[in-house]
Amino acid sequence: MRISLLSSIFLVCFGSLHLAYGQNVDPECACNLGNLWLDVVIVIDNSQNMGHNGLNQIAATIATVFVQSNITQALGQTTRVGIVTYGQTAVVKYNLTAFNDTNTFINALFDVCNKLTTDTASYIYTGLSAARDVLHDGRVNGKRNNVRQAIIVYAADYKSQGQDKDPVQLARDIRASGIDIITVGLKQSIDDDLAKLATPGMAFNNTDTDLVGEIQRNGLCQINCFCPGVAWTQYTSQFGLASARRFALCLHLGDIDAMWVAAKIACQSMDNSAYLVSEFSEAKHNFTYQLFKNSGMLTPYMYYFGLGWDVSSQQWMWEQPVNQPKLPVSPVRSLV
Ligand SMILES: *[C@@H]1O[C@H](CO)[C@@H](O)[C@H](O)[C@H]1NC(C)=O
Ligand SMILES: *[C@@H]1O[C@H](CO)[C@@H](O)[C@H](O)[C@H]1NC(C)=O
Ligand SMILES: *[C@@H]1O[C@H](CO)[C@@H](O)[C@H](O)[C@H]1NC(C)=O
Ligand SMILES: *[C@@H]1O[C@H](CO)[C@@H](O)[C@H](O)[C@H]1NC(C)=O
Ligand SMILES: *[C@@H]1O[C@H](CO)[C@@H](O)[C@H](O)[C@H]1NC(C)=O
Repeated sequence: MRISLLSSIFLVCFGSLHLAYGQNVDPECACNLGNLWLDVVIVIDNSQNMGHNGLNQIAATIATVFVQSNITQALGQTTRVGIVTYGQTAVVKYNLTAFNDTNTFINALFDVCNKLTTDTASYIYTGLSAARDVLHDGRVNGKRNNVRQAIIVYAADYKSQGQDKDPVQLARDIRASGIDIITVGLKQSIDDDLAKLATPGMAFNNTDTDLVGEIQRNGLCQINCFCPGVAWTQYTSQFGLASARRFALCLHLGDIDAMWVAAKIACQSMDNSAYLVSEFSEAKHNFTYQLFKNSGMLTPYMYYFGLGWDVSSQQWMWEQPVNQPKLPVSPVRSLV
């Protein structure tokens, strides 16, 4: 009989993975801002629509978002940032190689946000398009090509320029190429339009009381948390939902003829940190179920998961990566 195995690996989240051992919970995506590993272009509407207050607000917000991150050209878990402004047309103020340190970036940002242009119209298409070029140019010859990319757009207005310059289509193309888009709207009437441009779950606005935290936690840190390659499916709060909360856990459906112990070993050999999947909750079980269903496999689904009898401690334990202690099914209680 052919039995499937489902293994999961901890996303090697750039060394910042925090796990509460002993608690049977799946690991959340870490949000260690000092370890953000991204290429980001900030796109700022500096037309008359924005107003001086709007621009000042943007500078303060963006500076706070990035103040703890390591902006540098050095390799490692570092971030590069570029700045584009737009009104009627877009201007690349700084490309991805411009900043060697976080302070210089913040000073430049305040400088850029010091003055409005005389443009009365602002076309978000031109800003997005310029940002895409900056990301493209900053990564020629495969430079940092395993680093996630993001665009953060601050918009005071939303105007389409006709069919060949449709912001929604452009945003769709950008996202399809693996670049995430975070939007921040500065007036309510454009919120719905901006939400169509943003990566699901990443449209924010300036009435959010914790805008900085939203951009960090629900934007940049989620973008920073991903599974290697297409073979691994990221565990999320809801299977198949683009805006679902991501976990620092990747799942992979294996296919092997084996007993449990052999399956366990086969699974561990897939990756240093791979192990037979645990199902701590109904939600996790449901996710597993959806994964099988989505793979087109025939029912009934039969698979091994990571619950095994641990001889040395005489109890049922959940598998963990080889170098980590297994997790008891439930806290040990003495029987009276
Ligand atoms: C920033 O990253 C570089 C390269 O990894 C590292 O050498 C440097 O110490 C980091 N700076 C901070 C403040 O963490
Ligand atoms: C940034 O660092 C590079 C290489 O270390 C250097 O060539 C460049 O001049 C620096 N740029 C600035 C603005 O300091
Ligand atoms: C970035 O801008 C600098 C200065 O304008 C320029 O010399 C450099 O070629 C640009 N780099 C990229 C990758 O576009
Ligand atoms: C704007 O922010 C408010 C408050 O956080 C929120 O209720 C609303 O859904 C937001 N609109 C969009 C489009 O995100
Ligand atoms: C199982 O997951 C599917 C898809 O994510 C969802 O629609 C459904 O409500 C979930 N069912 C339960 C019982 O959680």
